[in-house]
Amino acid sequence: MEKKYKRTLVTCALPYANGPVHIGHLAGVYVPGDIYVRYLRLKGEDVLYVCGSDEHGVPITIKAKKEGVTPQDIVDRYHKTIKDSFTGLGINFDIYSRTSSKVHEHNAAEFFRKLYDDDKFITRESEQYYDTEAKTFLADRYITGTCPKCGNPNAYGDQCEKCGSTLSPEELIDPKSALSGSAPVKKKTKHWYLPLDKYEPWLREWILEQHKEWKSNVYGQCKSWLDGGLQPRAVSRDLDWGVPLPIDGAEGKVLYVWFDAPIGYMSNTQELLPQSWEKWWKDPETRMVHFIGKDNIVFHCIVFPSMLKAYGSYILPDNVPANEFLNLEGDKISTSRNWAVWCNEYLEQFPGQEDVLRYVLCANAPETKDNDFTWKDFQTRNNSELVAILGNFVNRAVVLTGKYFGGKVPANLKPEAIDKETLDSIIPCKEAMERYLDTFHFREAQKEAMNIARIGNKYISDSEPWKVAKTDMDRAASILYTCLQICADLAIAFEPFLPFSSGKLRKMLRVGIDAGFDHRKGEGEPTVNFYRDGESAALHTVAQGESPVSDGMPVLKWDMLGSAEILAAGHELGEPELLFAKIEDSVVDAQVERLKSIKAEREAAEAAKAAAEAAKHVEPQKDEVTFDDFGRMDIRTATVLAAERVPKTDKLLKLTIDTGIDQRTIVSGIAEFYSPEDMVGKQICILANLAPRVIKGIESKGMILMAKQGDGKMRFITPAETLANGAQIS
Ligand code: 2FM
Ligand code: ZN
Repeated sequence: MEKKYKRTLVTCALPYANGPVHIGHLAGVYVPGDIYVRYLRLKGEDVLYVCGSDEHGVPITIKAKKEGVTPQDIVDRYHKTIKDSFTGLGINFDIYSRTSSKVHEHNAAEFFRKLYDDDKFITRESEQYYDTEAKTFLADRYITGTCPKCGNPNAYGDQCEKCGSTLSPEELIDPKSALSGSAPVKKKTKHWYLPLDKYEPWLREWILEQHKEWKSNVYGQCKSWLDGGLQPRAVSRDLDWGVPLPIDGAEGKVLYVWFDAPIGYMSNTQELLPQSWEKWWKDPETRMVHFIGKDNIVFHCIVFPSMLKAYGSYILPDNVPANEFLNLEGDKISTSRNWAVWCNEYLEQFPGQEDVLRYVLCANAPETKDNDFTWKDFQTRNNSELVAILGNFVNRAVVLTGKYFGGKVPANLKPEAIDKETLDSIIPCKEAMERYLDTFHFREAQKEAMNIARIGNKYISDSEPWKVAKTDMDRAASILYTCLQICADLAIAFEPFLPFSSGKLRKMLRVGIDAGFDHRKGEGEPTVNFYRDGESAALHTVAQGESPVSDGMPVLKWDMLGSAEILAAGHELGEPELLFAKIEDSVVDAQVERLKSIKAEREAAEAAKAAAEAAKHVEPQKDEVTFDDFGRMDIRTATVLAAERVPKTDKLLKLTIDTGIDQRTIVSGIAEFYSPEDMVGKQICILANLAPRVIKGIESKGMILMAKQGDGKMRFITPAETLANGAQIS
């Protein structure tokens, strides 16, 4: 039997405030989370929707150091950028706060203190890397060195970004402090650990037995962590940015970011609802759902629940629908390599097209495996689905109603069986959508919503009201009456996915929507948002219990989806408006070009770095020779009089040389490094008594002395100042 809940607390992973959010974050966490919340609210469920910035952690301190600013400067900047991006995309959390807030610092410290007082931690002393110049312990990210797996000279102490290996600082070859560049030394330090091993039997029962319904990627990851055996996990760090440990004897230590961040969900709830927050966290009739990416699974399914269990009195997550990763044009999205589509930039470059991104990211959501975003697919989905199916159908229905019926819903004067069959065929779509949405299969749910538009398109194309109107206005009335009911269905079905377009459509249909409770305003009377015209900035709210009907306009609700009559005959529509605009090739081509140039720049920089590294390679010394051996070499200065390429070769130059003794020809394999013009007039050094050789039909007498560095680059040797030709080198 399914449990019945009174309310649902939905959290979305708190993004690190060290950069803007990108499409990977959106597709994995925030778009699905938002769809889910909108859906539940449309169904009339009570939902609290919580997020905020994760403002601690080492990457933030590293970024601050790089830019020469404080960590607070960094988080202030990105907190705002990220918050604005979410709002811009219609992702309206009830609260979007931050872990640098006072409430949070207090809460996180209090949480630690309670576990400390209850003896839930163990302490351990360990040797960790310490920078003697900067006088600080080094977090793993602050140590760089050569990756033992792939030889990348810039691997971090926790990970090699080149080969993807997870590392520990001890494994790095030639470790260096990222702060001072000096070699770190090992020094003893004490930390507090949560003994996860003690929670293992309970976790096994709770997850593996009681939550078999979790997504297989989530369940599978939990199982493999549990099967591998859990170890105590340090919850403190030697760092000067974070929540200070609230106990004596822990000076200079802060809470590990992954200890404080999930407590941020609670702090933010408390900030919004100081009086009533506990019912969202402690009442067993609250259901908690965490939307996260796959790299967060262990923290949300194993570490945080163990913390909550250790504390006692808190509810545990009911589900953790984590997604896999989204790639971009076939490559891993990476903030450090600037390989991403940034949400804030998208919003600037594609104003009015917020829903297109939401649609494409949902359609490609990496729900069961990693998936790829390409600009071509973005264009195709917009042009062939949003414009050609959904937009086209709605436009035809509303424009024809304007043309034939003065913009009023016509009466159903001459119904035929096909009308009812068509409307009835929407019911299975609704049921499928519910099944999919309830089990976090958002891609499939969105496909079903689009199927309703397909049904509408087929119906209007097959019944041709524009032709029928010439001979049978009553029948045309019934056809458009049916089409307008489908339009209203679409406004409901797409509200979770495309809130801006659903709003535009509602404006055209002049209907409101009962979008459920919204806690954005905090405590006091719960409100029902009554979206009249889709502009979420201008929400109409009415008190709970009051009917959200206003100005005589119908108000859509989830349960109306698929019902026979949503819009009554005579209801006046608004002005037709295009829901979507075609995206031209030039627009997506420009985006692809931008990515190509980022990739080319990166590859050039990597190649230059690799070459510089290779150049440092020095060949070992050759076998010993005697003084006499060397004395037999006749090495002299000479000047190049003429130079030309040897035909049909890439590497050879034919040089005419004045050796001081004679003029002669030397064929040399230096065309890769010098053009003939580079060589003429240059004084060089040659081995004059090398036995002659015929190369490509030319007799070559002698050899030009060249220095070759580790990466293969060659340069000729020239005296420090011009000498007479034929000067002997010894
Ligand atoms: O992976 C991340 O981006 C983390 N900042 C998520 C934290 S989620 C939570 F626990 F706060
Ligand atoms: Zn590596």
